[in-house]
Amino acid sequence: MSLGFEIGKMCIGGENICLNGNLGAGKTCLTRGIAKGLDVLKEYPVTSPTFTLINEYPGRLLLIHVDCYRLSDPGELLELGLLERDKNDYVIVIEWPEKIKQYLLNDFMDIFIEVKDEIRYLELVSCNLHLQSFIKDL
Ligand SMILES: Nc1ncnc2c1ncn2[C@@H]1O[C@H](COP(=O)(O)OP(=O)(O)OP(=O)(O)O)[C@@H](O)[C@H]1O
Ligand SMILES: [Mg+2]
Repeated sequence: MSLGFEIGKMCIGGENICLNGNLGAGKTCLTRGIAKGLDVLKEYPVTSPTFTLINEYPGRLLLIHVDCYRLSDPGELLELGLLERDKNDYVIVIEWPEKIKQYLLNDFMDIFIEVKDEIRYLELVSCNLHLQSFIKDL
């Protein structure tokens, strides 16, 4: 969660962050940290969007939290206009992103979470220059 906080603080808008990891790896927990770093008020607790697909939280930037676990048709998300807004005033965090990565055109950061013996190992990767410098500064 503290890494999420640092990530949230550094966001300037337009970041797409994909969270990869097994059930219970801590993706939603990391998202809570990001929300905190984006100054999302405590009145808006981050919950798992598994059943809602998308939750939005107002903060310094709007946090759009997407969970594709139950997504059967990526078109559903595109219909919601997710990728068509003015990019600069929001940050998108995606759990189970495999199904929609192709639509992000390499313009995203991957965070891989692996849990071994109750220790969490995180790997951060991106093809996008802004996000690469972002990772370096963490
Ligand atoms: N960094 C952490 N340290 C200790 N416990 C953690 C950490 N991150 C998550 N957990 C615990 O692991 C459990 C699952 O976390 P979380 O809901 O964030 O996982 P998830 O990856 O979002 O799962 P799902 O795939 O079901 O959405 C929670 O009970 C949480 O308390
Ligand atoms: Mg989750």
